[in-house]
Amino acid sequence: MSTKKRARAAAPHLLDQVDAPPAPPCTLVIFGASGDLTHRLLLPALYNLARAGSLDPGFRVIGVARRPMTDEQFREDLTSSLKERFAESGGEFDAKDDHVGVEAGKWAFLRERIHYLSADLGDPNAYTDLANLIASLDAAGAKKRKGDGDGHPTVTGNVIFYLAVAASLFDPTIQHLASSQLLKQSKNGWRRLIIEKPFGHDLASAKALDKTILKVLREDQVFRIDHFLGKETVQNIMVLRFANGFFEPLWNRQHIDHVQITASETVGVEGRGSFYDATGALRDMVPNHMFQLLAMCAMEAPNSFSADAVRSEKAKVVQAIRALPLREAAADTVRGRYLAGSVQGKRVKDYRDEKDVARDSDTETYVAMKLMIDNWRWADVPFYVRTGKALATRRTEIAIRFKQVPYALFREVLKQRPEVTLPSNELILHVQPEEGVSTNFQAKVPGQQMAISGVKMNFRYADYFQAEPNTGYETLIYDCMTGDATLFQRADNIEGGWAAVQPILDAWQKGYGAMVDYKAGSDGPAAADELLIRDGRRWRDLG
Ligand code: BG6
Repeated sequence: MSTKKRARAAAPHLLDQVDAPPAPPCTLVIFGASGDLTHRLLLPALYNLARAGSLDPGFRVIGVARRPMTDEQFREDLTSSLKERFAESGGEFDAKDDHVGVEAGKWAFLRERIHYLSADLGDPNAYTDLANLIASLDAAGAKKRKGDGDGHPTVTGNVIFYLAVAASLFDPTIQHLASSQLLKQSKNGWRRLIIEKPFGHDLASAKALDKTILKVLREDQVFRIDHFLGKETVQNIMVLRFANGFFEPLWNRQHIDHVQITASETVGVEGRGSFYDATGALRDMVPNHMFQLLAMCAMEAPNSFSADAVRSEKAKVVQAIRALPLREAAADTVRGRYLAGSVQGKRVKDYRDEKDVARDSDTETYVAMKLMIDNWRWADVPFYVRTGKALATRRTEIAIRFKQVPYALFREVLKQRPEVTLPSNELILHVQPEEGVSTNFQAKVPGQQMAISGVKMNFRYADYFQAEPNTGYETLIYDCMTGDATLFQRADNIEGGWAAVQPILDAWQKGYGAMVDYKAGSDGPAAADELLIRDGRRWRDLG
């Protein structure tokens, strides 16, 4: 029995995921093929696409990295890596069923379509080698197909270049691709570029990178990744808001008191010290991932679900985030750094003792901030955002806190128990690790006396839908192959994000906003609590 059938038999009440038809044939060139991203996310995502039948027989991968390797060695390396990933329980591929494993036939389909090129990306000859390899694989595919009829159909000239390399290599690689004519589209095929984060280091560098890119590519050829957009629950925010009648009328300053957006991580810097120490929590998470959550939650309804309509609405709302003068920017933000502690029973070093982190580092591993969105819908509704590493709990969520009801009707009931106040209603969009939506409201406690108590309603994805192993990159790679840019960042989305955090970066750089410490394994610095307390509010408990 196939894994899918087995899973279905075990949970017949669940709804199946809808598999997409195969995307058009193309060659996916991955720069940075020996790296962590390729092994941890891209390869499993490609395998999942193969498993779901979403890859055309004319699909092909060329991995490019410096290390000398043959095609066969590369395939072997990927085979063991894939098996390891799928064996990990609780990882990205743990679909909470015992049916997940590497299916030999599906992997063979992908494996034989994988090739390798050893190259130094700074060397112009590498690009000639790449062009030759693409052409020779095309020719071999065409010949095989003609000869025995059961070879791979020839790929068209469709090529995706995936930059899974250090950000310092983005600019030179794009320039080399352009000068070796590899970005030139023809009637025989399109050329597309996927570019990973970090997209720039601040507003000026993001603009400079966009300038380089848009000199040699059209905007519709560029796919700037923010992997949060590949998360089902993030995409679901649009469906929740715009495919249901009862949320949207309440979704505004009339009814909403404030919004809390949280991405709390238990991981520390995990061997990425040199990247992280030069980046920090603000740059790493806020203008990109946190603003995706904010934009999905705060944007106006687009006219359609076309890529440009959705991205225009997202750009508008991010551009409406109020830019604050230096002093206020610092007063409305908290920057923290973790000290040694213990996270879920595991000892964690002081951030400054982590490998590749400077002893005198001034980099934050936690940031909390209050943002105001200056538009008609959100005027005076604060959006509180917090994210940090080495915290007690792993949780990403958006909490919408509604305004309190007038107390008049229950004044007498509450008078008898002065310690009780009527809490406001909350709608929580759970992004990870639980995926779902929950809400709380007040109900009468059964009995002769009128007493009120908070209760909860909970929707969990897992209760309704058959979970397929998913890294989030499946959708993004598939969408790039089909040319759908809805879930990718347009230049103005990226620049809007940087523009909104630039005043904070400037304030910190000028010495405003002192660093505060928090213990690894805690909920973050006390100053983050103060940020809300001074407004008469408090963060949601993450425990
Ligand atoms: C990455 C950041 O972009 O996103 C990491 O560089 C962070 O520091 C990660 O841990 C969070 O993504 P996820 O999908 O694990 O929540």
